[in-house]
Amino acid sequence: MSVGADTVEAMDPAIEAIDLVKRFGDHTAVDGVSFAVPPGSVLGLLGPNGAGKTTTVRMMTTLTEPTSGTARVAGYDVRAEPDQVRRHMGLTGQVATVDELLTGRENIRMIGGLYGIRRRALEKLGDQLLQQFSLTEAGDRVVKSYSGGMRRRLDLAVSLLASPPVLFLDEPTTGLDPRSRSELWEVLRGLVAEGTTLLLTTQYLEEADQLADNIVVIDQGRIIAEGSPLQLKQQAGRASLVITVGDAADLPAAQDLLRRTGAEVFVDAAARRLTASADGLDDMIAVAGWFRDSGIGVDDIGLSRPSLDDVFLSLTGHRTDESEEVGA
Ligand SMILES: Nc1ncnc2c1ncn2[C@@H]1O[C@H](COP(=O)(O)OP(=O)(O)O)[C@@H](O)[C@H]1O
Ligand SMILES: [Mg+2]
Repeated sequence: MSVGADTVEAMDPAIEAIDLVKRFGDHTAVDGVSFAVPPGSVLGLLGPNGAGKTTTVRMMTTLTEPTSGTARVAGYDVRAEPDQVRRHMGLTGQVATVDELLTGRENIRMIGGLYGIRRRALEKLGDQLLQQFSLTEAGDRVVKSYSGGMRRRLDLAVSLLASPPVLFLDEPTTGLDPRSRSELWEVLRGLVAEGTTLLLTTQYLEEADQLADNIVVIDQGRIIAEGSPLQLKQQAGRASLVITVGDAADLPAAQDLLRRTGAEVFVDAAARRLTASADGLDDMIAVAGWFRDSGIGVDDIGLSRPSLDDVFLSLTGHRTDESEEVGA
């Protein structure tokens, strides 16, 4: 963003969770969650199955009342001004809400009618949305015949009928094939470019990495980490510097050289590869200079950062894909 820090601070958040708690009987599903999402940005709410993502979204979208705490959407309080909140947000749930027995176009007519959009304007808007989501031809077929990716796109199109400034997406790409997933990502990037504020939940670290400006990681109803994708990766550990020398005979000299960074150096002789932890680009540039001056031939030099999957493992002690799929 090109706006100065003062401007950012002056802007009220588009979405705000304030110490949200939700209990079901004696089970606490969401346990004191707070965060703020600046207008026009994307927050990724990341966590495994059962972490409390859907419950958090349901509280923020007025579908269920918080046990304690509250949330604000577009400046309106979900407890005090639920109608205003609904008027300023769109929601695409984990389960598609479109009617299977109607065509795509009929779904748009029905929901648009509920929003009170006039028929003429609705036809035009419907055409636009169907085209934007590559559903023009499918628009006259019943939704029953759609693929999973087409259903999600129609669902999203329908939730955009009211042009909401704030959009909540609960696991928008779960169950989609990689191609449908990246198509949907493109659509979402387009919405954000036009100024929509997005909160999306996901179990996919890659998805949060691809789309989110900021990530809140939750597990068992609590925030366990937050930051930009890069900050989270840095938190998971230092980067590694990986160097492949051209000639195995140079390995001992290369090892001595790399030790000058102060890091322990691991040598894989068969691969002619040396690995050492490093702080980042500065380390890499220094090391590259030493190698150039030494005359040791280098085939490859690179910096490898921990993945978000490594982040989750280091934070929770388990990987995200270990949890059982328990359905919606
Ligand atoms: N209506 C409900 N009644 C009782 N427990 C619920 C209800 N909804 C969710 N839960 C429980 O709350 C926890 C969080 O669920 P949920 O918010 O759906 O997680 P996520 O969306 O991250 O998978 C889970 O343990 C789930 O079983
Ligand atoms: Mg969920």
